[in-house]
Amino acid sequence: MTRASGQVESSVSLRRITLEQKRLQVILVRFHDERVGFAKAKFACEIALIPTLLIAPWHMRSSVTKWATGSSDCDSGDMASLRYTSGAMTVLDKTFYIETFGCQMNAHDSEKVIGTLVREGYRQVETEVEAGLILYNTCSIRDKAEQKVFNRLNDYKALHKLGKRFAVLGCVAQQEGERIFERAPYVSLVAGSASYRKLPEMLVQLEAGNKRITGLDDRQTDETFETEFTARSNKHRGYITIIEGCDKFCSYCVVPYTRGKERSRTSDSVLAEARRMADAGYTDIQLLGQNVNSYRDPSGKLSFAELLTAVGQLPGIRRVRFTTSHPRDFTRDIVEAIDAAPTLCNHVHLPVQSGSSRVLQRMQREYTREWYLERIGWIKAARRSISLTTDIIVGFPGETEEDFERTLSLLGEVGYDAVFAFKYSARPNTPAISMDDSIPEDVKSQRLQRVLESQREIQRSLYSKHIGEIVEVMVEGSNPARGQVSGRSSQNKVVNFTVDSPILPASGTYLDVRITQSFPNSLLGEAVVASYSYTDITREEVPVV
Ligand code: 5AD
Ligand code: SF4
Repeated sequence: MTRASGQVESSVSLRRITLEQKRLQVILVRFHDERVGFAKAKFACEIALIPTLLIAPWHMRSSVTKWATGSSDCDSGDMASLRYTSGAMTVLDKTFYIETFGCQMNAHDSEKVIGTLVREGYRQVETEVEAGLILYNTCSIRDKAEQKVFNRLNDYKALHKLGKRFAVLGCVAQQEGERIFERAPYVSLVAGSASYRKLPEMLVQLEAGNKRITGLDDRQTDETFETEFTARSNKHRGYITIIEGCDKFCSYCVVPYTRGKERSRTSDSVLAEARRMADAGYTDIQLLGQNVNSYRDPSGKLSFAELLTAVGQLPGIRRVRFTTSHPRDFTRDIVEAIDAAPTLCNHVHLPVQSGSSRVLQRMQREYTREWYLERIGWIKAARRSISLTTDIIVGFPGETEEDFERTLSLLGEVGYDAVFAFKYSARPNTPAISMDDSIPEDVKSQRLQRVLESQREIQRSLYSKHIGEIVEVMVEGSNPARGQVSGRSSQNKVVNFTVDSPILPASGTYLDVRITQSFPNSLLGEAVVASYSYTDITREEVPVV
């Protein structure tokens, strides 16, 4: 279609679009009256909009969506983001929408993907309907997570008829590979995380109209995805991936198959990125890896604990966190590093998965309950009070009531500050999928419930011990209507507090808070006035997160 014919069509479609606009406003108002969330209402409008979009000329489509969803008009920007591809019949609208499922690694991968797309001339938009390219960065750790992307693709597949392109990235992409093209033929690009380095080349193919682009063959690579173009979504706290992949092959886990083999970045490269972030105003850095503490510096300069210390010593850095640690690689020098450097947060996330050595062996975790508890002993013997959190899987094949009770007793023995508990979910390619003695779904659900109830009581007691303490909090958001500010302590606990001032501290501010009340998942307190100055505070209003 040429621009000229588009102009003629536009006058024909305009009447229909104006009518649609009214209809959509009615939908929005109805949803508003029914107190349904704005996101849901917007989604309903977008779906209702699809028939209109199908008849609208391409250059008007984004205006239609903006009317419906109430976003501001920016036609000239839309035009600027269109690129005609030489030789190909397609016109790729260089706007993109990305949705991320799953863990922090995925969230950070998306920040790097966004940075790469922007560098390639794309512009990010907030809804599928507005975008020329729709990307889903997926997770396949459990079955439910995996299903989400197929539901999403199904919800929006009609948009393909408008010339929009779909890309599936991440773990589901790697796991399902080209089968995604059969299941969802409107998808043009399927790429696992080990191939993200090649995104610019894949985008060139996409722009040339190629409909079957894959990035699936890089799981054995030694290279990591390093880029200076990371679009970090938070101005104060940022992630740095220091190690990719996993070589542990726990019998239930899909990650070694989807993210490929373990490969670390050099300490020089990590420190250079951390320094750039500190210069840009970041004060809180989280080092990431599926198995962060099996980090091995390829240049042989620094151990994992030394790297933590080095990041914590950079001027401007006030907090360093790391996740996720594996008990097998948990060494005493990590505890010593935390004890020695106040900038290293006093929090360790150390997934145990089960309290039964028999189950741990079947899970191929390569440690026993006693071995794990020895590491917990090191952490508890530290001079600083280090908070502990963990992951638990209930209903692993063959888990008896007695095994499960070993898990409950371990929770009591350790006293975790938070537990992330999951029902076992059989995953393709993993050894556990062929184990018999599977546990019925209702037993899994009951066990999960018992873990959550028992843990709630443990946390109620642990959190109450903070009453009367003064803790340093980094502000994450505020609710001016309630006069309440929200943030996190170095131990990673949520702290909600009030300030004795009509002006609330901005996100990223650090201040001391006296704890006055506790709940199982958060603390309540009041700011110690002397701990913040007027240079720290602004009228910025950020929603509580
Ligand atoms: N089923 C249930 N939970 C799982 N996890 C990993 N694989 C599975 C699975 N197949 C959990 C583990 C891990 C966390 C990230 O997800 O507890 O630590
Ligand atoms: Fe999965 Fe185990 Fe690797 Fe963690 S250590 S990512 S649970 S295989």
